[in-house]
Amino acid sequence: QLPTTFDKPVHIAVIGGTGLGHLEGYEPIAAVNPITPWGPPASPIKILSHNGTYIAFLARHGLHHQYAPHEVPNRANIAALRHLGVRCVIAFSAVGSLQEEIKPMDFVVPDQVIDRTKGIRPFTFFEGGVVGHVGFADPFDAGLAAIVKRCAESMEGDGVVLHEKGTVIVMEGPQFSTRAESHMYRSWGGSVINMSTLPEAKLAREAELSYQVIAMATDYDCWHSFEDVNVDMVMKYMHQNGKNAKRLVGAVLDQLSNIEHSDLVMAKKWEGYSQGGLKFM
Ligand code: ADE
Repeated sequence: QLPTTFDKPVHIAVIGGTGLGHLEGYEPIAAVNPITPWGPPASPIKILSHNGTYIAFLARHGLHHQYAPHEVPNRANIAALRHLGVRCVIAFSAVGSLQEEIKPMDFVVPDQVIDRTKGIRPFTFFEGGVVGHVGFADPFDAGLAAIVKRCAESMEGDGVVLHEKGTVIVMEGPQFSTRAESHMYRSWGGSVINMSTLPEAKLAREAELSYQVIAMATDYDCWHSFEDVNVDMVMKYMHQNGKNAKRLVGAVLDQLSNIEHSDLVMAKKWEGYSQGGLKFM
C-alpha cells in the first residue's frame, strides 16, 4: 500500500491514454488523490521516483478505463496535477491516421489541433466569476516537441517512426467518424484524429502548463482501403507497439528530469499568463 500523501513539489507529469495505463520501470512512492473544486481526478496520481526527481502519472480514462472520452474529468485531472506542482505535461494518445504516410504504429508530434468536440464537455476553468482568456494559436509546446523528436531520432534503429508535426482533429465520440466526416477531415488538412486531446490541452494552457501530446497511430480511421477502425484494432496496434511507446515516453522523461528546473519544464513563459486568479484546490 503506497502512501496517499506526498508533500514535495512534482514538476513533470505524464497523462497516459488508451494502451498506456501505467509506466513500468519506475519506483512508485505515493498514490495521491486530491479532491479538487472539480472533483477527484480520473485515477489516483502515482508519484514515481526517477533520476532523483519525481514524476506524476495519471491514467486519463481511470485505472479500469472506466471513463469514456466524453466522461473524462479533465478539469479535475489538470487541477490535481497543477495542485501537486506540475508545470509540464507529456500526454499520450492513440489516434487514427488521416494520411497515407502515417502508418499504424507510427508516432506523431502534432503542432496544431482542430476542435470537433461538441461543447458538452466542461472545457474551461474560466467561469462563475473567474474571467480569463488565453491564447491558443499554438496549442502545444514547441520546446517539449523538440525533446520528443530528438528522443525518437535516437530510437530510429529500433523501428520507431515519428512524424514531426501534424494537425490532430479532436472529435466528440464515443462513436467513430462516418466515412464522409473522415474524408472531410482529410480535406481540412487533418493528420490524425482522436477523442481526448481537447479540452485537456486547453485546460493545460489555462492552468499555465507546458503541454505536448505524443500520438500513436492505431488505424486509418475509415477513409482508407485498410479495414475500418474498431476497438480491437486500436488495442491490437497499441499492444504491439506498447513497448516502443513506453520507451519513447521513458526517454523523454529522462531528458525532462535532467532539465527539471529549466524554464521549459517550469513553464516560465506561461507564468501569470492566464491572469485569472485560478485556485486549483
Ligand atoms: N482513436 C484511435 N483511433 C481513432 C479514430 N479512428 N477516431 C477517433 N479516435 C481514435
